[in-house]
Amino acid sequence: MKYIFISTLCLFFGACQQNKPHSSNEGSADPHSYSNPQQAVVKHLDLDLKVDFESHILSGRAEWTIENGTNSDTIIFDTRGLKIEKVVLGEDVKETSFTLGKEDKFLGQPLKVHIKPSSTKVTIWYKTSEEAAALQWLTPAQTAGKKHPFLFTQSQAILARTWIPCQDSPGIRFTYNAVVTVPHELMAVMSAENSQKLRTDGVYHFKQVHAIPSYLMALAVGDLQFQKTDERTGVYAEPVTLPKAAWEFAEMGKMVNAAEKLYGPYRWGRYDVLVLPPSFPFGGMENPMLTFATPTVIAGDRSLVSLIAHELAHSWSGNLVTNATWNDFWLNEGFTTYFERRIVEAVYGREEAEMQEVLGFQALKESIGESGDDTKLKGNFAGRDPDEGMTDIAYEKGYFFLKTIERAAGREAFDKFLKGYFDQDAFKSVTTEEFVKYLESNLLAKNAGLSDKIGVSGWIYQTGLPSNIAPVNSGKFKAIDSLVAQWKATNKTAGLRDRIKTTNELLYFIKALPESLSASQMALIDKELAITKSGNAEIQCAWYTLAVRHQYKPAYARTEEFLVNVGRRKFLLPLYKEMAATPEGKAWAIQIYKKARPNYHSVSYNTIDQILK
Ligand code: BES
Ligand code: ZN
Repeated sequence: MKYIFISTLCLFFGACQQNKPHSSNEGSADPHSYSNPQQAVVKHLDLDLKVDFESHILSGRAEWTIENGTNSDTIIFDTRGLKIEKVVLGEDVKETSFTLGKEDKFLGQPLKVHIKPSSTKVTIWYKTSEEAAALQWLTPAQTAGKKHPFLFTQSQAILARTWIPCQDSPGIRFTYNAVVTVPHELMAVMSAENSQKLRTDGVYHFKQVHAIPSYLMALAVGDLQFQKTDERTGVYAEPVTLPKAAWEFAEMGKMVNAAEKLYGPYRWGRYDVLVLPPSFPFGGMENPMLTFATPTVIAGDRSLVSLIAHELAHSWSGNLVTNATWNDFWLNEGFTTYFERRIVEAVYGREEAEMQEVLGFQALKESIGESGDDTKLKGNFAGRDPDEGMTDIAYEKGYFFLKTIERAAGREAFDKFLKGYFDQDAFKSVTTEEFVKYLESNLLAKNAGLSDKIGVSGWIYQTGLPSNIAPVNSGKFKAIDSLVAQWKATNKTAGLRDRIKTTNELLYFIKALPESLSASQMALIDKELAITKSGNAEIQCAWYTLAVRHQYKPAYARTEEFLVNVGRRKFLLPLYKEMAATPEGKAWAIQIYKKARPNYHSVSYNTIDQILK
C-alpha cells in the first residue's frame, strides 16, 4: 500500500526515487542487488575499519542505521567474499542470526540478517578477503615515490560489496561517518570531508553528510599530501607528484564556477582531486568531494583536463541525480558528457568543445558497429556484469541525444529544463522512464511539435543512431583533413610540426591516417612529429595502436613500457586487442602481460584476461 501511495505522489512531483522500489512500470528492483529495500532499508552507516598492509585485509564493523517500515523480520545486504564474523542488533549483547546465500560470480552472496520490527541498528563485524575486487594493494615499487605501499578502492559499479556489507544498489542512499586506522606514516582519504593533514596516530575520521549510493563509497591510503588550488578546490597526491598535479589542475576552481553558472550551486562543500598511482583502472571516478584520477591526465600542458570537467559534472549528473539501476547508466554518463562539454566550452571556448565533440562522434560510430543490441540507451545488463555497459553508447549516444534535444528546443530552454531537473531530483535516484516522464511534462508538453522532432523513444529504446542526430563540425579538424590529404598526395611530412599544435589536433591526425599506412611512412611522420616519445597518454595509446597494426618496430619498446606502467583500461584494451589480432602479436602481448598483470587492478585484468585467454 505504502508504495502505491508513493508512486502516486511521484506522478505529481515528477521523477522521484529514494530508498524504495521503482515506481515505473518495469517495476522490478535492481537486478544487480540482492537487497530488499521495500521491506527494510539502510539510512546511515558508521564504518570502523583497520587497514592491514601485511595481510591485505580490511577488518572492523559496519554499523547500519536502518528503517524497517514494514515490520520485516529480515534485512538483506549484498556481500562478495566478505568474512562475516558476527551481527548484533542495536545495543544488544547477544548476536542475531544471519545466513549467507548461494554465491554468484558477479553479485556475490546475499547476507540475510534476522531483525525485529523495532530494530534501528544492525552492526556487522567482518573482514575483507585478499581477493576483494574493489581493492588494489600496491607495493612501494608500484607507487611514484617508491617508498610506501598504497591502497585504493573502486566501488562502481557493484564492487562496494567486496569491502563493505551494504545494500549495493544506486537506488539506495545513505549518509556515513567513518573511522579508519592506518599505519602512522600514511594518510587516509575518503569520499567525504577530509582532514588534509597527516594524523600522527594513524586514526582518520570522516563525515559524509549527504546521502549517497554505495558505489560512491571510496577510500585511499598512501603517502599523500594536500595542496590547495583555491579556496574550495585542491589536490591530494604523493609528494613527488603533487607539484605537477597542482599545476595541471590549477583551473579547477574556474570549472566549478562555470558549472555552477550553468546548472546551479555545487552542493558538496569542497571539490578536491586525488591523483592515484598509474594502475588506477579508470581515467577518473567521481567519488563525492574527492574525484579519484589517473596520473595519465597529467600531460604537462593541461591538455587532458576535460577529464576533471567530466568528474566534476558528475557532482550534478550522477551524484546528485543518480541512475536508479545500472540499466539506466546513460542517465549518469550521457548527461555528464553533455555537461562536461558545456564546462569545457565555458572555460576553454567553443572550438575546444567542438573538437571533443567530433572525437566523441568518431568513437560513437565505431561503438555502434561493435555493440549490436547494446546500442539502446536503456541497457539490459541483468545476469551480466554491469561493467559491460561502460561503452560509448551510454556516454556518446547519451550525449548526442541531449545535444539533439538542445538543438530542437533551443539552448536557453534546455538549460532551464536541466537546471530544474537537477534541483527537483537532487539527492534522488531516477529511472529512464521517470526521466522521460519528466522530460515530457517539463519540456516537450510546453512546445508544440518538439516531441516529434526529437523522437525520444527511438533514441532510448532502439538500436543504432537516429537520423535526426545533431551534426558535428570542427573548423580546426577540417584543416587537419587538408593536411592529411596533402600528405597522401605528396608523402611529404615537412612542415607538419608547425601546423599540428595541440593534443586534439594530433589525436585527430593520427586517427585520420589511412588503413594502408606503412611502417616506413610512420617513421617519416615520427621523425617530423616525435610521436613515439610523447608523454601524453592519449597520443601514446593512439600511436602505439597504429605501431602494432603496421609493425612499426621503433615504437615497440615504448609500447611495452606503457603497457607495463599504465593500468587504465581504456588504454590497455585497444592495444591488447590490436596485438591479439595476429599470432605473433598475441605471443608478444602474452609475454608483456606476464610482467604487466601484477600492476593492474581487477577491473582491468578481468577484461584483458578475456582478450588473451
Ligand atoms: N564513473 C565513471 C567511471 C566508471 C564507469 C567506473 C562505470 C566504473 C563503472 C567515470 O566518471 C568516467 O566516466 N570516467 C571516464 C572519464 C572520461 C569519460 C573523461 C574514464 O575513466 O575514462
Ligand atoms: Zn563519468
